[in-house]
Amino acid sequence: MRHWTLLGEAPIPGTGQTLSLYQGKDDFFIKISGGGELMNTRKHGSEDALGSLPCKRLRHPEAARVLIGGLGMGFTLAAVLRVVGPGAEVTVAELIPEVVDWNRGPLGERSGHPLNDPRTRVHVGDVVKLLRKKNACFDVIALDVDNGPEGLTTSTNDWLYSEPGIIAAHNALGPGGILAYWSAGQDQAFHDRLRRCGFMVEEIMVHAHGHKGARHTIWLASVDG
Ligand SMILES: C[S@@+](CC[C@H](N)C(=O)[O-])C[C@H]1O[C@@H](n2cnc3c(N)ncnc32)[C@H](O)[C@@H]1O
Repeated sequence: MRHWTLLGEAPIPGTGQTLSLYQGKDDFFIKISGGGELMNTRKHGSEDALGSLPCKRLRHPEAARVLIGGLGMGFTLAAVLRVVGPGAEVTVAELIPEVVDWNRGPLGERSGHPLNDPRTRVHVGDVVKLLRKKNACFDVIALDVDNGPEGLTTSTNDWLYSEPGIIAAHNALGPGGILAYWSAGQDQAFHDRLRRCGFMVEEIMVHAHGHKGARHTIWLASVDG
């Protein structure tokens, strides 16, 4: 039987639910009260891909401006930092302050402490606020705030998958920019919505871990340019 130690708990704003961080013998996991496991440190192949795939497609990754929502266990952030160059600026928005604290603590070692990288900027708050900002301009926006287009963390995240949210993201991207979404499963209606909002869309299936087991979906939605 596995023994898990509860390391921390945090309220999820506006939901009455709690996010909990547990540590086991070899790994950590984050769970939502009344729901399942949100993620663990053992399987992060698709979280890595969410960061690396769009950045590798950029013409000038060396000075890319990237927005990530949210931080989670820091794997997407770490993957972005591995691809972009020294002139890049990578903003990570995380709704729950305790998640940032956990990554600054023992959890951060699993992703290589990407919060300590000088190219990282942390926004403690809703990624929606950064997307709605006038004059926002990014080369990549990588979103993994939920299980997919069907919200899990907070229902206000639904906006990120709606036409107004997708159009706001489109407006926040420069020429040739890429909007990337992570999802636990496929969703043809969402794929079509991205296209209706003016993106060229590529859907990529990525294993959660290595070359076996569950596969997750990553949409890469590109702006002309
Ligand atoms: C599945 S985890 C992200 C995993 C991340 N890709 C990684 O590599 O570890 C989802 C994260 O998004 C955060 N989150 C949820 N809604 C958010 C929002 N609207 N703005 C910013 N962060 C949000 C959650 O608190 C959680 O930390």
